Amino acid sequence: MSGERRRTRTAILISGRGSNMVALIEAARDEAYPAEIVLVAANLPDAGGLERAAAAGIATASVDHRPFGKDREAFEQALDAVLRQHDIELVVLAGFMRVLTPWFVGRWQGRLLNIHPSLLPLFKGTHTHARALEAGVAEHGCTVHFVVPELDAGPTILQASVPVLPGDDEASLSARVLAQEHLIYPQAVAQVAAGTVRLENGAVVSA
Ligand code: GRF
Repeated sequence: MSGERRRTRTAILISGRGSNMVALIEAARDEAYPAEIVLVAANLPDAGGLERAAAAGIATASVDHRPFGKDREAFEQALDAVLRQHDIELVVLAGFMRVLTPWFVGRWQGRLLNIHPSLLPLFKGTHTHARALEAGVAEHGCTVHFVVPELDAGPTILQASVPVLPGDDEASLSARVLAQEHLIYPQAVAQVAAGTVRLENGAVVSA
């Protein structure tokens, strides 16, 4: 026995290209990183990130939400079964475009993280960069938070801000924010996986 701490078995849930997923996989290549990415799962079988995960040697799964129609919980039960098959301890949403029910959120309470492309509580929901430009804010950014049943309302673990520059459009602003997402998401996941940050009575507590 080396006495080293066992790494936290972590799944990343995606719906799209998976650039945050790649940042997390790269961080976790370091054996000293406290989370091990053991699964990438998508709700869309053609999510581009699945191929990138497979190329990195990570197990992948897709649980298509469409056959479940409006029954969100039935979809989540199928997804949850896959997570349990892989003995997942921590679930990381990275561009996962399904709203989760209180059932799923409750089951993973304190072990479910999301990254949102705004300085929450500003600009909850979608089209955050366009709305930030429209509002004329001088600063914009991203937030990693624990997931609670209310959308984009969970307690913040880390935030990073960027300036909004003259001449910015949605593409330039989102690229500047995304570069920060790739830095803070691996940091936040490491803190939760290592147990130095946790959710307690609805608030973030640091060890
Ligand atoms: C990111 O902007 C993230 O904040 C949001 O969805 C986007 C996912 O991008 N939740 P990617 O798939 O990680 O590249």
